[in-house]
Amino acid sequence: MRDLLLRALRSEQVDRPPVWLMRQAGRYMPQYRVLREKHSLWKLFHEPELAAQVTRQPLDVLGVDAAILFSDILVIAEALGLSVHFPESGGPRLEPPIRTPAQVNALEIRPVEEVLKYVFDAIFLIKPSIDVPLIGFSGAPFTVASYLIDSTSKEAFALTRLWLREDPHSFHMLLQKITQVTISYLKAQIAAGVDVLQIFDSWANVLDEGEFSLFSLPYLKQIVDALRDTGVPLILFCRGSTERVAPLVSLAPSAISFDWLRPIDELRRAVPAGIAIQGNFSPDIFKKPCEALVREVTAALRSMQGQRGWIVNLGHGVMPDTPIEQVRLLVDTVQSYSTLAR
Ligand code: CP3
Repeated sequence: MRDLLLRALRSEQVDRPPVWLMRQAGRYMPQYRVLREKHSLWKLFHEPELAAQVTRQPLDVLGVDAAILFSDILVIAEALGLSVHFPESGGPRLEPPIRTPAQVNALEIRPVEEVLKYVFDAIFLIKPSIDVPLIGFSGAPFTVASYLIDSTSKEAFALTRLWLREDPHSFHMLLQKITQVTISYLKAQIAAGVDVLQIFDSWANVLDEGEFSLFSLPYLKQIVDALRDTGVPLILFCRGSTERVAPLVSLAPSAISFDWLRPIDELRRAVPAGIAIQGNFSPDIFKKPCEALVREVTAALRSMQGQRGWIVNLGHGVMPDTPIEQVRLLVDTVQSYSTLAR
C-alpha cells in the first residue's frame, strides 16, 4: 500500500505531504455525473458495487493519496430506526424528524452490522482493489443530532438550538444515543477494513464556545477515547476549527482538520508535535487561474518545509461547480514537490 497518509498521521518524516480532498467524489467530476444520471444518490450509497465504484473514481481521475468511503454521515440514522432521503435539491431529509423528548426515549439502537451491512460490504469490495489507505467516517453527534431534529440545514438548525437551550437534559440523552451508535458504527467500519477514520462536526460552528464545550466536545471525547485502543488513526474535522484549537487539541486525536482562516504553518506551531494537521486551502482556490493556484500551493508547501504531520486537503469539501483541471493541478503540484530536493 502507498502509505504516505498513514506515515503523515504518525508524524513521521516524509518526502512530501499526502494529499486527498473532502468530497473528492462528487458532482464536479464528469465520471461521477455519468453515474448520477443513471442512479439516485440513495442508490449510490446503498448499493455496495456502486459505492465502491464511486469511491475509486478520484483515485483513477486524480491519483490522490487516499480514498474516502462513498457514503454519507446521515445513513447512521437508519441504525436508530429512521429513514433518510436525498432529494435532488434542498439537502438530505430525515423521516420522521425528532421533535420531542418522548421520541428520543423511544429511539432504539439497532445492530449496525445488520442495518448498515451495505456500508461494510462496500468496504469489503473497495479494500482489495485500491493501493492507498481507505478513510471511513461518521458525523459528530452534535452534527447528526442537528439533522435528526431540523431534518435539513435550513435556517442554521433553529429548532436544534432552541431545544438545547430549553431542554438540555433530553438533548444530552439524544447526543448520548447517537454517540453510542456512532462508536459501534466506527468499530464495525474498522472490522470491515478501513485504515483511517474521520469525524465530521460540520455544524459545530453554530454553537458558541460554551455550548460547544457542553454539547459537542464531551461526545467527541467519548468517541476518540473509545477508538484509541484500536490503533486506527482518527482525524477530527470541525467547522470553525481554527477558533477552537485548544479544546480540539485536548481530545488528543491523531489529526485535526483546519479551515483556511489561519495559515497552515501558524497552525502547525499552535498544535503540539505528535498531533498531525490537515488542510487548509479554501475551496475557492479552484476559482484562481493556474499560475495563482500553483503559487499559493507552492508557498504553503515551502512554509511547511521540514515540518512533520501535515496532510494537504481543503478546509471544506470541493464545490460542485469546480473545474476538474484545477483540482488535478492542486494534486499534481503537491505530488511533484519534493522536500528532499530543496
Ligand atoms: O467526501 C467524500 O467524497 C465522501 C463522501 C461524503 C458524502 N457526504 C457524499 C455526499 C462524505 C464524507 C459526506 C459527509 C457529509 N454529509 C457531511 C459532512 C461533510 C461536510 O460537507 O461538512 C454532511 C454535512 C453531509 C450531509 C449532506 N449530504 C448534505 C448537506 C448533502 C447535500 C449537499 C450537496 O452537495 O448537495 C448531502 C448529499 C451528498 N453526500 C452529496 C455527496 C457527494 C451530494 C451528491 C449529489 O448530489 O450527487
